[in-house]
Amino acid sequence: MGQRRIRTVFSILLEKSVRIGYKFRIRAGGHPKGDQVKKIGIKGTGSCVPERVVPNSYFEKIVDTSDEWIVTRTGIRARRMIEPGQALSDLATSASERALEMAEVSPEELDLIVIGTSTADMLSPSAGCIVQHRLGAKKAVAFDVNAGCPGFIYGLAVAQKFMQDGSCRKALVVGGEIVSNRLDFKDRTTCVLFGDGAGATILVQSNGAENGEILAMDIESDGDLWNLINVPGGGSRIPPSHEMLERGLQYVKMQGNEVFKQAVRTLVDSAQKIMTQQGITSEEIDWFIPHQANIRIMQVVAERLGIPMEKVIINVHKYGNTSAASIPVAMDEAVRNGQIHRGDLILASSFGAGLTWGAALIRY
Ligand code: COA
Repeated sequence: MGQRRIRTVFSILLEKSVRIGYKFRIRAGGHPKGDQVKKIGIKGTGSCVPERVVPNSYFEKIVDTSDEWIVTRTGIRARRMIEPGQALSDLATSASERALEMAEVSPEELDLIVIGTSTADMLSPSAGCIVQHRLGAKKAVAFDVNAGCPGFIYGLAVAQKFMQDGSCRKALVVGGEIVSNRLDFKDRTTCVLFGDGAGATILVQSNGAENGEILAMDIESDGDLWNLINVPGGGSRIPPSHEMLERGLQYVKMQGNEVFKQAVRTLVDSAQKIMTQQGITSEEIDWFIPHQANIRIMQVVAERLGIPMEKVIINVHKYGNTSAASIPVAMDEAVRNGQIHRGDLILASSFGAGLTWGAALIRY
């Protein structure tokens, strides 16, 4: 009887301390005073691609293809691929360190780490937690967003929400992917298209001038189209087995033609949605960063949006489709090579497995 009472008192105390602790954690993050929505801007960018360059000529030796076919149908001339033993967090950590350095933010200051990826180092834990550990970002809460190629755009939208109410003040958003070890090097319709990489941004509260502002975000999905791009094996439906490996179910499967049509539709719709919402015309856009999947998709989309190709940031010829890394890597390169300046208006849009798509309008 006495023991039961002690246990009851103990559990009440425990429950209270958990509640108090929870409250303190949230308060430490900083609740907004009133309902003020904070402006969120990008203070730094960084990227990292593997050193190994794989030119189109490599594929001429292993599948029935040609450099000419790949260049004319996709715009891709080379891509980067990791060496055996490397993993997503290697690239994501380097990209993050570069972004932190540019932003003059220390890892200890980060409240939030969001990694857009579907190719974390392992199935569990998240790449976010591994990157948190490697950076020493003790204070942050870290997790992944699995949204295919728009993983970075999704990550940006999630981080922006956490930051707009003041819960988080400084965030790291990464888009990164290791697609090379999910490729079937016997399937010419997919293996020539993809590469590895990671790009990172540091988000901070902004006055709208010094560090710009994320003006609008759109993220969307249509699960009815899940079958257009997928990696069927290795999850809970078809767990790893000899049979799974023999059937090649660990590799990317894609209906290229249908994806092409959906890509054009979604990229245009999403971009138009946020431009209309903000009252922005295509003439006002300084730089358009579309998902770097295929130069032909980018050309059609830019034309439909009324944006000249001189304003389109392109690196698909160097890196192929790096999935969630594609937009942040392109953005970082354009910032560092002097194309994008502070105050420029950037439109970014992406699509991918899910089907998922989304866009961001950013005053840099
Ligand atoms: N080399 C040579 N021929 C190839 C080839 C390759 N690497 N890949 C496909 N082909 C062949 C096809 O087998 C087909 O041959 P067939 O006419 O004898 O059947 C022919 O080329 C035309 O194929 P098709 O699929 O119509 O070509 P395409 O012009 O649509 O280009 C893609 C194919 C995949 C490049 C294009 O559809 C695409 O980029 N789709 C979007 C993919 C994408 O963005 N995925 C990522 C989503 S995040």
